[in-house]
This record gives sequence, C-alpha cells and structure tokens, in this order.
Amino acid sequence: MPRIFNFSAGPCTLPLEALEAAKAQFSDYQGLGMGLVEMSHRTKPVEAMHQAALDSTKALLGVPDTHQILLLGGGATLQFAMAPMNLLAGGRQADYTNTGAWAKKAIEDAKKFGNITVSFDDKANNYSRLPDPKAVQVADNAAYYHLTSNETIGGIQWQDFPTLKCPIVADMSSDIMSKPLPFEKFGLIYAGAQKNMGPAGMTVVIIRKDILEACPDTLAGYFNYKAHAKENSMLNTPPVFQIWMLKLVNEWLAGKGGLKFAADMAHKRSDALYNAIAASGGFYKSPVDAAVRSKMNVVFRLPTEELEDQFVKEAKAQQFDGLKGHRSVGGIRASIYNAMPLEGAQGLAQFMAEFARKNG
Ligand SMILES: Cc1ncc(COP(=O)(O)O)c(C=O)c1O
Repeated sequence: MPRIFNFSAGPCTLPLEALEAAKAQFSDYQGLGMGLVEMSHRTKPVEAMHQAALDSTKALLGVPDTHQILLLGGGATLQFAMAPMNLLAGGRQADYTNTGAWAKKAIEDAKKFGNITVSFDDKANNYSRLPDPKAVQVADNAAYYHLTSNETIGGIQWQDFPTLKCPIVADMSSDIMSKPLPFEKFGLIYAGAQKNMGPAGMTVVIIRKDILEACPDTLAGYFNYKAHAKENSMLNTPPVFQIWMLKLVNEWLAGKGGLKFAADMAHKRSDALYNAIAASGGFYKSPVDAAVRSKMNVVFRLPTEELEDQFVKEAKAQQFDGLKGHRSVGGIRASIYNAMPLEGAQGLAQFMAEFARKNG
C-alpha cells in the first residue's frame, strides 16, 4: 500500500524516514539484541538517546541557555494545569487570551489554580480574529500572558508575538518547529508532540531558568517543573518511544534544513490551499480573518453540509485523507504539518479546483 496524504490534525502524518528508521531498529537497537523500548531507562543506550533528543531539540529550535527543555508525559492538557500551579502560587494573577477551543480549556483549568483575567475573548466573532500584538497591554501585576499560538480546531495562528513587561506562556502544540521563535519573549512554552514532533504521549516544555527556580517546592513531585529539571526529565520512567521518535523526527528536519525549511514549506503548503479557496469564486469560504490564517490547519466551508460530506468522501477516494473538520465546528480542515509533502497540499488544491468546477 503506498503512503496516502494524511491531513489529520494530530496524531498526524510523520516523516516516512523517521518511521522507517524506528522500524529498522525496533526489535534490535544498535545490535544489542533487544529493542530500545524493552530496555531500562537507566541504561546507557537509553540515556544517550534521551540526551540526544534534548540536544537536537535545543539545536533545531535555537533554544538559548536562559531556558531549559523538559520532556514530560501527560500531553499538553496536563500543562493547562501545571503552568498555573507552578507560576501562580500564592494567588498571583495572569492574563489569558480566549482565541478558541484550546485556549478555553487552558483558561478553565488555570482558573482552578490562580487569579485569571481573560483580557481578550473573540466569542462575538466566533473566534476568527486575534489581538494586534502591537496593541496588547497587560496588568501591572500579571505573572504572565497566556496565548495559544495556533488554534488547531479554529485554524487561527499568531503571526507575531507581543513584547510585554511580563513573560508570555504559550501553548504551541500545533505550530512548534514550524518557524524560529523569539525566546526572549517567552517564560514557558509547552507543546504536545503529536503534530510536528512525533507520536502522542509526550510534551515538550521550554521554561526560562529563573522561572524554573521559583517553582514552589510544596507541589507534588510530578507537578513541579523544578523536580523534572533536576532529574533531566527522568524523574520517573519517561515515554521512551515518544522521545526516540522525537529524536528521529528532529534528525529528519535537521537534514532538510531545519526551521528555515519548515517555515518555507509551511508557507508554500498553506499558500496552495488558501489560493485554491480564493480562486473558487466563493465556493469555498474561510471563516478566519485573512491576516491570521493558520499555516498548519487550513479550515474552510462549502455551500452545504451535504457538499462537505461529499468532498470528504471523494477526497478520501483520491488518497487525501483526514479532511473532516473537528466535530465541534464541522466543515473541512486540512492539517498540513511539517511532514506533509508539498505535493500533498498541491494535489489537494487541484482536487479542490476540480470539485468546485463540478459542483459549483
Ligand atoms: C493547541 C492544542 N493544545 C492542546 C492540545 C491537547 O493536547 P494533548 O491531547 O496532548 O493533551 C491540543 C491537541 O490536539 C492542541 O491542538
């Protein structure tokens, strides 16, 4: 069976080279007679792989020495709670932006641990716009400003980040590794792996070291970033397979040219699809403000839900899979992460043009 074009939002398509590299050594890692996932995490081969995954993430993203990378379990969802637990101890205040489904979940959990102000909420426009980064103001006492850099369901993405007097805390689950980041603006970045970095079950956390040092010791071990940092992300049995895949995906991306390649390709893939929407004479409609459309998740509607169902079905028959929009919003969503070949996006754009011509 040849590989199909998988437009799923995550878990999603991963680089074939990384999958093949894992397959080649899955049951016999480096000729040791057993697989990496069968070894104790306290053995040299696992420790070396673990460090290489951390080092390659640092190198690829260009993480400065002011920040530390942690590899944690629990998904990005755990970070909705861990961030305020660690950063808002003692009743501190934080500003949150409600830009859609994922931001909303982050806010709901943060409210259980801190004093949360929602300074932007675009409900009135059905979450189609973002704040102007140049105009963002934060309260004097804000410990941080939380944003969701890319709303995976709504297809809306911050193109620039504000410069603020407090650090930004960002959920970057669905666009990390897609472009270089201004780390000096960020106190904490968290991202579930299952879009641009590997399989689900691991979260990359990048935290500024002074913030790390201030994490309260009253927290239970697993909830405390400082405890994980002290053990180099081996506080407990780490998700070895996910970390290994992260390393292999990193090696693939580094070989392609790193974040410059990722950003260039993201631009080309998303342009192909947004151009197809624009060229359709209104058959396809994007619900998102043109200035903040996502380069990772392209969402659009067709004239009727029946046509949307037909679109998904016919696209699947032509090997373009996973295009149904999130169940909460409907419509179509094409997720075009780092591992999506450009031909996938270009092929889908062509399919869109033909579908519009036949059904418009
Ligand atoms: C932007 C964003 N944040 C958070 C999550 C939740 O991640 P997890 O399922 O790893 O907890 C997702 C999941 O897709 C997401 O897209």
